[in-house]
Amino acid sequence: TYIVTDNCIACKYTDCVEVCPVDCFYEGENMLVIHPDECIDCGVCEPECPAEAIKPDTESGLDEWLELNRKFSASWPNLTERRDPLPEAKERDGEDGKLAKYFT
Ligand code: SF4
Ligand code: F3S
Repeated sequence: TYIVTDNCIACKYTDCVEVCPVDCFYEGENMLVIHPDECIDCGVCEPECPAEAIKPDTESGLDEWLELNRKFSASWPNLTERRDPLPEAKERDGEDGKLAKYFT
């Protein structure tokens, strides 16, 4: 599966949702997550994210993010259409440790 990681937080560009063939993105206040059991591993969303926040879970060190994607995709609403990014998207893009600072 692919998963959404730290750099989506406080950006939420949403380019990813437009290309997903199975509509498996779910929306929280300041980030999206992928439902790991719905994702068919096609990989088309990965290059679409301007924040480079989408990664395959085969990359090392992403266990915490896989769990976060799994947990929140079970309760957040599905998002299938692109929205405007969050107001501070450009400013926050690339900042370290967003999970602790901004995740709500
Ligand atoms: Fe959707 Fe494919 Fe991205 Fe999985 S890898 S979230 S199926 S676009
Ligand atoms: Fe987030 Fe990137 Fe999608 S910033 S909303 S994963 S395009």
